[in-house]
Amino acid sequence: MNSTQAARAPLHQRVRRKAERMFGPAGIFFKGFVKHPVMVGAIVPSSRRTIARVLSKVDWERCDLFVEYGPGVGTFCQPVLDRLRRDARLIVIDTNPDFITYLARTIGDSRFIAVHGSAADVESIVRQHGYDHADYVLSGLPFTTLPEGVGPAIMAATQRVLRPGGAFLVYQYTARARALMSRYFHRIDKGFEPINVPPCVISWGWKD
Ligand SMILES: C[S@@+](CC[C@H](N)C(=O)[O-])C[C@H]1O[C@@H](n2cnc3c(N)ncnc32)[C@H](O)[C@@H]1O
Repeated sequence: MNSTQAARAPLHQRVRRKAERMFGPAGIFFKGFVKHPVMVGAIVPSSRRTIARVLSKVDWERCDLFVEYGPGVGTFCQPVLDRLRRDARLIVIDTNPDFITYLARTIGDSRFIAVHGSAADVESIVRQHGYDHADYVLSGLPFTTLPEGVGPAIMAATQRVLRPGGAFLVYQYTARARALMSRYFHRIDKGFEPINVPPCVISWGWKD
């Protein structure tokens, strides 16, 4: 966009672009939290230590499709793309259209697909993109504050969409979501990352 087109853009778009330039991804994330605190559930993105720890159990050679729920401003997206095979895909799903627009604009990688929608619809989203199943699903969703019934629906859909041997990688700020997870995943590995705001509880649920 040249300077004349930029000057003609509606005021809210100009203000948003200026905020993005001034505050970067953290500003977009914080704005998302202010607009939808219950759905976002955190005020700062995950730390690098959390990212490395959560992804440490992925077998990248056996990963054709990696799905992420609630990417926010994409804290995990580039680290996942850095590890992903060249012929594999990353599909991210978020209910917040501002985050999806931001990600689609800032991540220029042909393996990356950003979908505006709910994680509860993961099976149809995966099918629409030509896959039968996902190898790994990563979630930063705030399970404990999601609307009634949404958490169980997402857990059940995730269990169905994973291939046998695949895993659901979940990072949360409390261990409460593990009780819900254990209804759908019988083998759960447990971890904890203190260098995160707030410290982070990690669960890897394996599909039998
Ligand atoms: C804690 S933030 C994620 C933070 C980010 N992944 C990180 O590592 O910094 C939670 C995200 O989940 C999204 N979200 C909430 N409910 C959702 C749902 N049902 N399906 C997909 N995304 C959802 C929110 O819009 C928000 O982007």
